[in-house]
Amino acid sequence: MIISQLLQSAVKANYRSESSQLDSELLLCHVLGVTRSFLKTWPDRPVNSAQLEQYEALVQRRVEGEPVAYLIGTQGFWSLDLTVSAATLIPRPETELLVEVALGLSVPEQASVLDLGTGTGAIALALATERSQWQICAVDVESDAVALAERNRQQHQLDNVTIFASNWFAAIPQQRFDIIVSNPPYIEASDPHLSQGDVRFEPASALVSGSDGLDDLRLLCAQSVAYLSDGGWLLVEHGFEQGAAVRELFVEAGFSLTETHRDLNGLERLTLGRYRVANA
Ligand SMILES: C[S@@+](CC[C@H](N)C(=O)[O-])C[C@H]1O[C@@H](n2cnc3c(N)ncnc32)[C@H](O)[C@@H]1O
Repeated sequence: MIISQLLQSAVKANYRSESSQLDSELLLCHVLGVTRSFLKTWPDRPVNSAQLEQYEALVQRRVEGEPVAYLIGTQGFWSLDLTVSAATLIPRPETELLVEVALGLSVPEQASVLDLGTGTGAIALALATERSQWQICAVDVESDAVALAERNRQQHQLDNVTIFASNWFAAIPQQRFDIIVSNPPYIEASDPHLSQGDVRFEPASALVSGSDGLDDLRLLCAQSVAYLSDGGWLLVEHGFEQGAAVRELFVEAGFSLTETHRDLNGLERLTLGRYRVANA
């Protein structure tokens, strides 16, 4: 078999995926240890039987719905290649909006930042690559996610990030941060999408938050104010239908300048607000 034939048959087998061409190429790149441009440049290269067997097994798992990122073990986020695992969510491109907005905030040059529910470390590590003077603390309740984020931190040699286990604020020493960011679980427990597509393979601990999806966001809004410096910012990602409810949570907690940003699809995705300690 040659590269072009293999890709053709994989795309055919995986026809239900909206990204079957890309999926097939990424899996083959993983097996052959090459880039996608190699596949385009050398479509006539033969593939040996061990590679063929490994590739066919991965394509079969993809046909059964397993996300490509779990199959190849990595996912690009911002400028970083991150190791992923079934311990936590695969970082999504929409979450880059949170990074972009955080980088545009008015904060001290040596800002202190807290990332709650860091997962792979995606948000914290992306911020750290852009702002080496920021001191960033990142936590997750899942010890496997903490280990994964730490592995990603070491891989990218980001010394301005500290990662440890905490159930939201429980293990965070009492201190005030200039920015708190979080992409918490925010899906309703009864959401039918949980049993469809790629999310079936991701842990519920990273996705589900009570009957209306807002349990964690409620807690984060209410408790963040005790950990924000005067003029500090809270930024949270949320579901596209949760904008109004989340803005209300911000106002109830005492935030001002509360606003919601839309993602590239025009959907409400991220809400932020500023906290004035004097207003409390
Ligand atoms: C939606 S995922 C986001 C992961 C990562 N921040 C990202 O954007 O890709 C939510 C993360 O919150 C973590 N989490 C859930 N409950 C938590 C809690 N009580 N305390 C801390 N982290 C929690 C999950 O383990 C998961 O890694």
